[in-house]
Amino acid sequence: MKPEVLVFDDLEALSLSAAERLGVVAREAVRGRGRFSLALSGGHTPRRLYALLAEGRAGDLPWDRIHLFWGDERFVPQSDPASNFRMVREALLERIPVPPGNLHPVPVCLGSPVEAAAAYERELRAFFASEGEPAFDLALLGLGDEGHTASLFPGSPALAERHAWVAAAEAAPGIIPRSRITLTLRGLSAARAIWFLVAGAEKAPVVRILVDGSEAEAARLPAGRIGGAGPVTWFLDRAARGY
Ligand code: 6PG
Repeated sequence: MKPEVLVFDDLEALSLSAAERLGVVAREAVRGRGRFSLALSGGHTPRRLYALLAEGRAGDLPWDRIHLFWGDERFVPQSDPASNFRMVREALLERIPVPPGNLHPVPVCLGSPVEAAAAYERELRAFFASEGEPAFDLALLGLGDEGHTASLFPGSPALAERHAWVAAAEAAPGIIPRSRITLTLRGLSAARAIWFLVAGAEKAPVVRILVDGSEAEAARLPAGRIGGAGPVTWFLDRAARGY
């Protein structure tokens, strides 16, 4: 299935469109299945989208039916400035009436990334017990300029994981915090929809490979190996598209 590529003037327009579309997807999921399961991306790019969700730009969202997960997390306390949970808490959670039981952060309080990954996998498998698959209604992903997504970095052993939905991983040297927990390719393979949100000229070369390159060229990059059940959509600003 060929990915859909959407190009916006800037990050603000990208984020606004993603918010409006996310509202439609969320309401459809709740109507159809009684709940909406959303895997959130970390990093900087999605922060504006999360703020727009908090501001109601997605329309009315049935937060009591929405379950929030993290596609990856840094193995740091939730109070740490590098925590993806903290970023989402500040941009979104503090401003919406989502029931605490609907929040599914990675348990970084546990003793090690391996323990945290195993515990998170148990939580996901319990949540998706009836589907038997990590069938997120929507997974949001970012993109590193060397092709990583979530915390699946080029050459990472986590990329070879075929069975586990969640794995401990390490960021590339020089990228801190290095210790991570991430959904694996398997953990992202059953999402009903996958959206990459990418902005900035520094991402244009890797976007060109992933969007315009051959399947073989794309598959050399972690982000190029994402996919499975549902459609993949690229939300790009003009700079990331190389315009
Ligand atoms: C993380 C993210 C990571 C991020 C990319 C892009 O925990 O760092 O999950 O995959 O999406 O590195 O990050 P920016 O949006 O900050 O460019």
